[in-house]
Amino acid sequence: MKNHARLYIDTNRIISDIPPLLFGGFAEHLGRCIYEGIYDPSSPLADQNGFRTDVISALKELNFSIIRYPGGNFLSGYHWMDGVGDRKQRPRRRELAWQSIETNQFGVNEFIQFCREINTLPMLGTNLGTGSIEEAASLVEYCNAPAGSYLADLRISHGFRQPHDVKYWCLGNEMDGIWQIGHLEALDYGIKAREAAKLMKWQDPSIKLILCGSSSMSMSTFPEWDRNVLEACWEYVDYLSLHCYVGNRENNTPRYLAISSQLEQQVDILAAALRYVKAKLRSKRDIYLSWDEWNVWYKAQNWQGGWTPAPHLIEEEYNLEDALVVAQWMNVFLRKCDILKIACLAQIVNVIAPILTNPTGLVKQTTFYPFNLFRKFTNGKSLDVLVKSPVYHADQVGEVPLLDVSSCYDPDSGTSTIYIVHRGLSENLPLEIIWQDLAPKTVIDIYQLAGMDPKAANTFERPETVVPIRLPGFEIKDKTTTLIVPPLSFTTLVCKFDVTN
Ligand code: AHR
Repeated sequence: MKNHARLYIDTNRIISDIPPLLFGGFAEHLGRCIYEGIYDPSSPLADQNGFRTDVISALKELNFSIIRYPGGNFLSGYHWMDGVGDRKQRPRRRELAWQSIETNQFGVNEFIQFCREINTLPMLGTNLGTGSIEEAASLVEYCNAPAGSYLADLRISHGFRQPHDVKYWCLGNEMDGIWQIGHLEALDYGIKAREAAKLMKWQDPSIKLILCGSSSMSMSTFPEWDRNVLEACWEYVDYLSLHCYVGNRENNTPRYLAISSQLEQQVDILAAALRYVKAKLRSKRDIYLSWDEWNVWYKAQNWQGGWTPAPHLIEEEYNLEDALVVAQWMNVFLRKCDILKIACLAQIVNVIAPILTNPTGLVKQTTFYPFNLFRKFTNGKSLDVLVKSPVYHADQVGEVPLLDVSSCYDPDSGTSTIYIVHRGLSENLPLEIIWQDLAPKTVIDIYQLAGMDPKAANTFERPETVVPIRLPGFEIKDKTTTLIVPPLSFTTLVCKFDVTN
């Protein structure tokens, strides 16, 4: 095992069906995500709804299964009524979370139109910072009730006869954080969230509710916060949220690329908290995890908008090593999808995003590509791959396998995809894939994102510096596939089974 790796794949060794909402996104009223990103009616690139057509088509490529909105920290000071009805009457307000001006030209109805345009599901947040439980329940009525009550009829008067039928709802945002507008202690949040949940489900019993878990593992209240709020709300909610941002602050690439074990640990601890509370409460119901903010974020740290609309805030530029971290994150999603059912990339445009816009166009950042490949080729069931890989030493982590891997298998289409991150900085690694039961007939496609420079990035001037190349497929002989994996790479191997075998 010194200088080559082996993967053992058995299509019977199933972790879970792939959850449909694992490849979601997040759009906040922050910086230029909404304004100048998604919505820019004065742009020559805008359509009749004011949406940037170039952004819409790039987002369609990413094909998010769900999008969380409107925040984020913004949510905790936001009153949804400000953003509905006649645009000319909507208030222009000081927005405290990001010290910006919120013009309210984009609100809930524009968001629903946007979701329809890119064929995704909406996930709406309710303000449990400055907002009341009544305001939270009112938004459910406004969105989901049929004609015949004040708020449903208000929606109809705004041009939306049919209910929006929003299924997924967040009970506030990062309420454990002192930076949050209206931050609460766990017990207080637990009570407020439970009461909001009751009213919201009375408005529409079919909705699914996401409770705020800890905003990161580094919080001193982690994971006590999670246990406390779960105990208060268990019978009323459906998911517990987790958030995480990572980065290469010490400029130590081997250590940065060892990230996946830390990400898995976060899921494992919360999965244990879920099991503990379920047992303690003798409950029959299950609650799952929603990783509804995740991304690389450490370079861009400008948080304050100077009381202007659409300021340039936290527009992170991503490089190759960041893309390899994003790919590992999605490997973790597949490996943990028995408990993790929802995930939202934070965010989707301009703000820590795979797409950056300027007035004349956009650039697809390095992180666009792993997301795109996972979204395209992940179907069916997630497989538990046995990985035998050489290791390297990473500071403060210890021995780390050179390869980080996940795989899925779709019996309906007879396809299987293997996702492989090679963390090594300089050496090719020979790899053997051993199919233990069924073996595919061919590798139909190989996509590879790779390079020698971990800091290589796509820019407006050089937008194609880091893009995946497509390599020719080949026949699989003797249930074994061999290939050479280049250093600093992410490989997607799409395999096809003979439907008669
Ligand atoms: O995504 C940026 C911010 O990060 C969100 O507003 C907040 O929820 C998190 O701290």
